[in-house]
Amino acid sequence: MIAPSLLAADFTNLARDIDMINRSEADWLHLDVMDGVFVPNISFGFPVLEHVARICKKPLDVHLMIVQPEKFISEVKALGAMMMNVHYEACTHLNRVIFEIHKAGMKAGVTLNPSTPVSMLVDVIRDVDMVLLMTVNPGFGGQKFIEHSIDKVRQLRRLIEETGSHALIEVDGGVNVDTGRRLVEAGADVLVAGSSVFKADSPEAMIRQLKSL
Ligand code: DX5
Ligand code: ZN
Repeated sequence: MIAPSLLAADFTNLARDIDMINRSEADWLHLDVMDGVFVPNISFGFPVLEHVARICKKPLDVHLMIVQPEKFISEVKALGAMMMNVHYEACTHLNRVIFEIHKAGMKAGVTLNPSTPVSMLVDVIRDVDMVLLMTVNPGFGGQKFIEHSIDKVRQLRRLIEETGSHALIEVDGGVNVDTGRRLVEAGADVLVAGSSVFKADSPEAMIRQLKSL
């Protein structure tokens, strides 16, 4: 599956870019919320996303790069989001946060920074619907893919098989046709792609190409 990241869209032409996503073969729309505390950047927040949600026809995959993400479960739910991803590093009581996301009627994803090992997931892997592996340090689009991520996808695939978990593997950061192909070979289910889609001559054709990997 492919989830284009709105972070790389043209913010002066959001309606046009979301229209393109609606027409495309994209499976989900990936939305990156940053708070300037958990990550060294601020992107957009709920007032903007409410408008995005109103016109987007694809399921919303919300990636919260914020401290205390549990404070915003009802706001994410109000968007009609399909998936709420919280960072492992931002949740002291991750088990409770996952339970609360499910109680709100959404799928729950847990996200790992590049420096957090896959083994930290052992006690939550059966409870989550997705693991989002960061393949760059979160906070910015257009960064260089971290090669070690390929090993991490393989390790995570093994953990999912060993535990009988139903979690999907999503990867985020520096995904293009080359890295995307290798990530899929290693076991990734969902590719997030920002720059490679929106900077392409034809974003729709790029989405199709990434989806065929
Ligand atoms: C980075 C975000 C990503 C970002 C990816 O912190 O989580 O979703 O949009 O951008 P690219 O695909 O350009 O690396
Ligand atoms: Zn993201």
